[in-house]
Amino acid sequence: MERTLSIIKPDAVERNFVGKIIGKFEENGLRPVAIRMVHLSQSDAEGFYAVHKERPFFGSLVSFMTRSPVVVMVLEGEDAVKRNREVMGATNPEEAADGTIRKEFAKNIEENSVHGSDSLENAAIEIAYFFSATEVYNR
Ligand code: CMP
Repeated sequence: MERTLSIIKPDAVERNFVGKIIGKFEENGLRPVAIRMVHLSQSDAEGFYAVHKERPFFGSLVSFMTRSPVVVMVLEGEDAVKRNREVMGATNPEEAADGTIRKEFAKNIEENSVHGSDSLENAAIEIAYFFSATEVYNR
């Protein structure tokens, strides 16, 4: 079993797709074991995306991620990091496969509805950024 961090981004929360997106995870063997809605501050978003701070899209990404609340979740399942990335689809929705969350819901490469950790190592870092050990459901 692995755990990974998932974020339902402002574009999806604004359009009322939270339930549909969580349903996609559940249908694909990923179980939410921690969930919270949070309105990120500028420093929260800058800290979370610090690896991208030299990218030309960094400022725009931070203003997008702070424009309205997000839903942060820990997803648990077999091969959860890879499975989550498969269910999300490619970063750019124009390249995302049919049936993926980004194909179905994302607006464009920035407003792409969901974030998922890209490795098990980053999953641990990203989970700890949002959740303490006692906030995660240990079955
Ligand atoms: P995410 O998987 O959360 O990781 C970094 C985010 O930056 C990405 O999803 C998009 O929201 C955004 N992003 C990535 N590439 C671009 C780009 N070329 N232009 C604008 N935003 C981008």
